[in-house]
Amino acid sequence: MIYGERIRLRAPEREDLPRFVTWLNDPEVRENLQLFLPLSSMEEERWFENMLQQPPTEHTLVIEIREEDGWRPVGNCGFINTDWRCRFSELGIFIGEKSLWGRGYGTEAMRLLVHYGFKTLNLNRIYLRVFETNPRAIRVYEKVGFVHEGRFRQAEYRDGRYIDVLFMSVLRSEWED
Ligand SMILES: CC(C)(COP(=O)(O)OP(=O)(O)OC[C@H]1O[C@@H](n2cnc3c(N)ncnc32)[C@H](O)[C@@H]1OP(=O)(O)O)[C@@H](O)C(=O)NCCC(=O)NCCS
Repeated sequence: MIYGERIRLRAPEREDLPRFVTWLNDPEVRENLQLFLPLSSMEEERWFENMLQQPPTEHTLVIEIREEDGWRPVGNCGFINTDWRCRFSELGIFIGEKSLWGRGYGTEAMRLLVHYGFKTLNLNRIYLRVFETNPRAIRVYEKVGFVHEGRFRQAEYRDGRYIDVLFMSVLRSEWED
């Protein structure tokens, strides 16, 4: 477990998969993610098996929030595309329980994950991709210390139009300042 103040990050279990399918089939959650097709339980099973074959540092982490009667899973996050020679990795996150958006959990999860990336994984650079049409996520990343470093113009196609994909990153030296 990786503990924050109101949240913790834990490894996913097979029993989580139906929950993931529900989250990722919600159009409002999915519209800001790379996914664009409906997702079946079987595909999610396959994703899970494939994830377990990846290096442990690239396994998805479940975000849980502390409630009166225990811990409640609300979303996922993690690192992918890690380059261990140059010490960078790409971060991804979503809160699948959309009734909980805007309550600071995304910001706290990002801070925890970035801290884990620098202080446990010994990364030097953490980057992410975000659609220009996702101001909430962009705000969170800016708050956490990510800076804008590039724009892939018309690199995504959603709802009948092309949109730009923004690249943002934070360096360990900036994080530690
Ligand atoms: C993006 C996401 C992880 C953010 O988590 P969250 O818990 O909702 O965000 P927080 O409550 O921590 O912070 C939201 C911030 O965005 C701001 N915000 C919300 N809507 C906004 C908008 N339309 N324009 C600008 N800022 C906005 C809030 O005011 C808040 O900033 P503040 O603390 O300065 O007031 C979450 O909303 C989510 O999972 N969304 C769907 C999937 C997704 O977009 N994932 C990211 C893909 S790159």
